[in-house]
Amino acid sequence: MLNFWFFLLLFTLGCNSPATARKPDPFTFPELQSTVLPDPSAFFSPNLTSSPLPTNSFFQNFVIEKGDQKEYIHPYLIKSSHSSLSLSYPSIFSNTSLTQQIFTPDLNISVLHNPDPTRTHVVSSFSDLGVTLDLQPGLRFFFVRGSPYLTCQILKSAPLSISTVHKIRAFVPNSSKTKYKINLSNGQIWILYSSSPIRLTRDESTIESENFRGVIRIALLPNRDAKLEPVLDRFSSCYPVSGRARFRGSVSVDYKWQKKGSGDLLMLANPLHLRLMDKSSVKVVDGFRYKSVDGELVGVVGSSWVLKPDPVSVTWGSIKGVEKEKESRHEIVKALEQDVKGLDSSNVTTNSSYFFGKLVARAARLALIAEEIEIEIEDADVIPKIKNYLKGTIEPWLDGKFVGNGFLYDKSWGGLITKQGSTDKTADFGFGIYNDHHFHIGYFLYGIAVLAKIDPVWGRKYRPQAYALMTDFMTLDGGSGSGSKYTRLRCFDLWKLHSWAAGLTEFENGRNQESTSEAVNAYYSAALMGLAYGDTRLVAVGSLLTAMEIHAAKTWWHVKEDDTLYGADFTRENRVVGILWANKRDSVLWFAPAEMREARFGIQVLPLLPVTEVLFSDLEYVKQLVEWTLPSLERKGVGEGWKGFVYALEGLYEKENALEKIRKLSGYDDGNSLSNLLWWIFSR
Ligand SMILES: *[C@@H]1O[C@H](CO)[C@@H](O)[C@H](O)[C@H]1NC(C)=O
Ligand SMILES: *[C@@H]1O[C@H](CO)[C@@H](O)[C@H](O)[C@H]1NC(C)=O
Ligand SMILES: *[C@@H]1O[C@H](CO)[C@@H](O)[C@H](O)[C@H]1NC(C)=O
Ligand SMILES: *[C@@H]1O[C@H](CO)[C@@H](O)[C@H](O)[C@H]1NC(C)=O
Ligand SMILES: *[C@@H]1O[C@H](CO)[C@@H](O)[C@H](O)[C@H]1NC(C)=O
Ligand SMILES: *[C@@H]1O[C@H](CO)[C@@H](O)[C@H](O)[C@H]1NC(C)=O
Ligand SMILES: *[C@@H]1O[C@H](CO)[C@@H](O)[C@H](O)[C@H]1NC(C)=O
Repeated sequence: MLNFWFFLLLFTLGCNSPATARKPDPFTFPELQSTVLPDPSAFFSPNLTSSPLPTNSFFQNFVIEKGDQKEYIHPYLIKSSHSSLSLSYPSIFSNTSLTQQIFTPDLNISVLHNPDPTRTHVVSSFSDLGVTLDLQPGLRFFFVRGSPYLTCQILKSAPLSISTVHKIRAFVPNSSKTKYKINLSNGQIWILYSSSPIRLTRDESTIESENFRGVIRIALLPNRDAKLEPVLDRFSSCYPVSGRARFRGSVSVDYKWQKKGSGDLLMLANPLHLRLMDKSSVKVVDGFRYKSVDGELVGVVGSSWVLKPDPVSVTWGSIKGVEKEKESRHEIVKALEQDVKGLDSSNVTTNSSYFFGKLVARAARLALIAEEIEIEIEDADVIPKIKNYLKGTIEPWLDGKFVGNGFLYDKSWGGLITKQGSTDKTADFGFGIYNDHHFHIGYFLYGIAVLAKIDPVWGRKYRPQAYALMTDFMTLDGGSGSGSKYTRLRCFDLWKLHSWAAGLTEFENGRNQESTSEAVNAYYSAALMGLAYGDTRLVAVGSLLTAMEIHAAKTWWHVKEDDTLYGADFTRENRVVGILWANKRDSVLWFAPAEMREARFGIQVLPLLPVTEVLFSDLEYVKQLVEWTLPSLERKGVGEGWKGFVYALEGLYEKENALEKIRKLSGYDDGNSLSNLLWWIFSR
């Protein structure tokens, strides 16, 4: 009931403004110049570099190292190198261990007689849904995600060259010379549209233009299907230049594209978009489809979309509450007393921001479990002890007094780094080069939320530091002129609707994320912090991001037996993706081979929380996943920690069986505990 009123309240309040705008908090962690971060000014236009820049974005490869690694701008792979731009409509390779898109430079666009072919591109602007690349002064590409057309604006009259690694089989202009149909020897048919007549000549594999100024658009005709040609013709004159995603309370993410030209806007939706989309304000062109590693992309006409997730009500405790039976309750109390007895902040030996955060969150769970079973009545000591532990562990990180590590502010990209990460790219799993921020900080936020809940005076004192941590990856404003210290939504991809963990490293398959459950934890913990501080905006934004991340995990990471999204071999062999890349699905993990199914399982489940119920609400899938994993537990040397997570989910449909196995465990993951596992089982 309480939740219902709460959501009603959020709904009525609405919330277009950023989570952090209400009360600008002056606190910033001390500034430090990193010795391992690249210089952003190499690829960003000077008018962009004074504001925080994206570090985990869909176009990150364009702005690090030489900027010449490909990125997936649906439905095409794009590579910009040596002053030329290559466009690929990728084929998909799939076997039992991976699913990956293969890049072939189907079309290669450049300016003829380029005086300076060594020159690199410049990002002249970027938005939630697109990035604008100036290949050279006067040659601009608007990459807006999901546009079936590649759009190029030639601002200064110049002759173009379009080459291909294939042979040109046919090349047919229409009579006004504003449309050319290009048949390639690999079977692809491309259509080129121009804003005014253009004279093109060609030889076996190159097309050249005379001087031209204006807009050129190039699109692949899906499936060489002549019936779809009129669709491409019809929408060829309206092009998007950028796109913005707005948050409406906890209710929806709304897209709006800035468009130029004339007519209606045709874009492509991924499977999750289609699932969440309010179809009343757009027109879905059902037969118009492109293939993609993310599932088929379907045409949608309309210059704004509304995406509504199934709402997630963020709560401190389990949905149904813990069993009231005396015996089960007694068992949790006993475990809890034991776990709390082991808490001693001076005994923590790790200085890693990740492992330290996990310990903090583990202890914070004990406090919430104690509250949920109303333990105070019999053991008044438990909560104060946890409180002391949380203070003893969290405060040094917020005060800058932690020996051996700590949070610092990097001005060059605009974000937090750790002390160890400031001189070592690999320290803290790459936190210093912007890897995994939501994971590490998420654990700290969980601890802070719980401590602020049980000790509001402490909460008030450390509110500025707490918000500095949260805004590092959850700022909703950001961008030039915003005055924000952090980039907008550091990890969350507003088009894919999930986070990327990889930061400033060049990868041939783009960004990646392994643990969806840790990503869910980050936004969920931020929402809990909102609850603790009475910040309804933060609750709304945190809940919405939690809901989206869960949808994305269910769409792209959780592989059901009868799914058709990925190749049949991959689907047969895998019940869950290990690492998900922009351009690839992997069965391996960063830290384990595909055969270690228990690790793949565990990293997609931990930490075990009330919101885990929502992430694994599909019981049919849970059963498939557990049964796929169980044989792996028979191997010698499988960690007790991993087993705990498997038994926990088994408990969703085989409670007694799972409980017996949990009782026999001799150890737990460093972020988990017997108390937490028992709480989980007894609240099913
Ligand atoms: C799947 O394909 C990749 C890439 O070609 C290869 O490295 C891997 O060994 C293949 N896996 C299996 C199980 O054949
Ligand atoms: C594209 O064409 C340019 C200019 O001819 C050439 O330098 C470049 O290597 C080509 N790129 C690819 C990927 O083929
Ligand atoms: C930055 O400058 C470029 C010109 O170099 C301009 O086209 C672009 O719109 C500017 N971007 C912003 C965000 O002001
Ligand atoms: C181009 O491809 C289309 C579709 O396969 C085909 O109908 C047409 O005849 C081709 N044109 C030439 C000149 O090869
Ligand atoms: C050529 O194709 C373009 C794009 O579809 C269209 O706008 C134009 O009217 C066509 N010209 C003729 C003469 O049909
Ligand atoms: C902390 O470490 C000390 C010294 O090793 C030990 O005596 C004590 O039992 C430990 N405390 C806990 C709660 O484990
Ligand atoms: C961090 O802890 C490791 C051991 O876990 C230790 O080797 C290292 O010296 C510590 N680093 C600092 C800066 O304290």
